[in-house]
Amino acid sequence: MNNICYVVAMRAEAEPFIKKYGIKEVEDFFAPLPCQLYEGMVNGMKLSVVLNGQQHGSDLVGCEAASIATMAAIQKLNPDLIINSGTCGAFLTNGAGIADVYIGNRAMFHDRRVPGDDAWSTQSIGNYPVWEGSKQLAEDLGFKTGKVTTGSSLDMQPCDLKMIQENGGELKDMEGAAVGFVCSLFGKPVLYVKSVTDLCDSGAETFEEFSRNLGKACEALKDANERIIEHLSAQR
Ligand code: ADE
Repeated sequence: MNNICYVVAMRAEAEPFIKKYGIKEVEDFFAPLPCQLYEGMVNGMKLSVVLNGQQHGSDLVGCEAASIATMAAIQKLNPDLIINSGTCGAFLTNGAGIADVYIGNRAMFHDRRVPGDDAWSTQSIGNYPVWEGSKQLAEDLGFKTGKVTTGSSLDMQPCDLKMIQENGGELKDMEGAAVGFVCSLFGKPVLYVKSVTDLCDSGAETFEEFSRNLGKACEALKDANERIIEHLSAQR
């Protein structure tokens, strides 16, 4: 790997490793899009971090912003690998704990209900593949693996849970499958690094649990990304 690019929704999720590597913002790189670029070199490898950016005074989470950021990143930076790093919900019943870091092994949408034949359903669920080195990386560095399941809401409705369970979803986020969709169109490999802020089956109120654990999960994400960047740069 000579050129890796992170796509991250929330500044809080990227800030710890932007600081750690001392990478600098390239002002207005994606203008007029709100995405922001931080760039630098680590162990001879180019490291870019693209944030979705902000609108109405808050970070742009969700599929639309993630799609735009991923497409702009690929077209303008042409990285060898896209890494979608961020926080997620997970399930106690799958043995998940707060601030556990997972490597995604697939990415699907869980809130798209399109009737019709198998082709419509296959397309709407997505079920996108990940970078072929993901499994080995998880094994080498001792991370758990799981299927990323993406929707446009932080909460989880019964129909979402049904879709997640029927399709083996494990890591509930708001961007992963959108990043996977764009990468599938461009034939770009994608690695998912997800840190757990909340447990969807804990009975707690999701936003409260998410907010309480955000700092801890982002620290774990930084530690994981440091090890991942070391690992990838050693493969050059
Ligand atoms: N990001 C962090 N926790 C999440 C959840 N429960 N659902 C969607 N996105 C999340």
